[in-house]
Amino acid sequence: KRLWGLIAAAGSGQRLRAGTPKQYHHLAGRPILAWSLDALCQVPDIAGVMIVRAADDALFDRASLRRDDRVRDCPGGAERQDSIRAGLAALRDWGAAEGDGVLVHDAARPAVPATDITRLIEAVADDPDGGLLAAPVRDTLKRADAAGRVADTPSREGLWQAMTPQLFPLGRLQTALARDTRVTDESQAMEGLGARPRLVAGDPGNIKYTYPEDIHWLANAIERNRRR
Ligand code: C5P
Repeated sequence: KRLWGLIAAAGSGQRLRAGTPKQYHHLAGRPILAWSLDALCQVPDIAGVMIVRAADDALFDRASLRRDDRVRDCPGGAERQDSIRAGLAALRDWGAAEGDGVLVHDAARPAVPATDITRLIEAVADDPDGGLLAAPVRDTLKRADAAGRVADTPSREGLWQAMTPQLFPLGRLQTALARDTRVTDESQAMEGLGARPRLVAGDPGNIKYTYPEDIHWLANAIERNRRR
């Protein structure tokens, strides 16, 4: 039984509205995607990493990413889910078996510590329900009404923020994503099959690059990882 990585890097980065997709923005001198790729490649247990990039991605070849026989790329789709489905199919073509594990990771999370990935693997590699890195919600949450006023304050007891990587058995994840439902992460797709993925506490510094200011936080997190 082998382990594979899949990096979702086919987004257009609309929320940042900068011309360049966010996975190519620079962080400490290198594209965000290069950091995310290195994080997975640092884990020796991973047999290969599939990068899912946009079909019309003109920047991929120029991004000077690590290029060795453990790294391949394939075109993604319109929605994140479509990209993951395409990546899983490409992994099967590469030789991945149904029972192998796949770590799905956002290209936009360059600061995941390698130690967190290892801990996730140790916790759930043999678990058919898989699991994900996550952090307990730290702020008080408010639900808004239509007028922009507080409707209520949900208890934050037991609430976690989902991060990536998320690790699942490849065949089961393919089945979960083949169902035509809208999901915002792979765990949610698995939950639709009745799975109860394990939450593995990860470094809260593993944020998703979403706003321009995030770059400063991410640069600090990368520096911290280096010293670990
Ligand atoms: O847009 P958001 O930040 O939620 O995207 C999360 C990750 O999913 C990003 O790394 C992005 O590149 C990827 N994505 C993708 N294919 C899409 C949309 C997003 O691979 N169609």
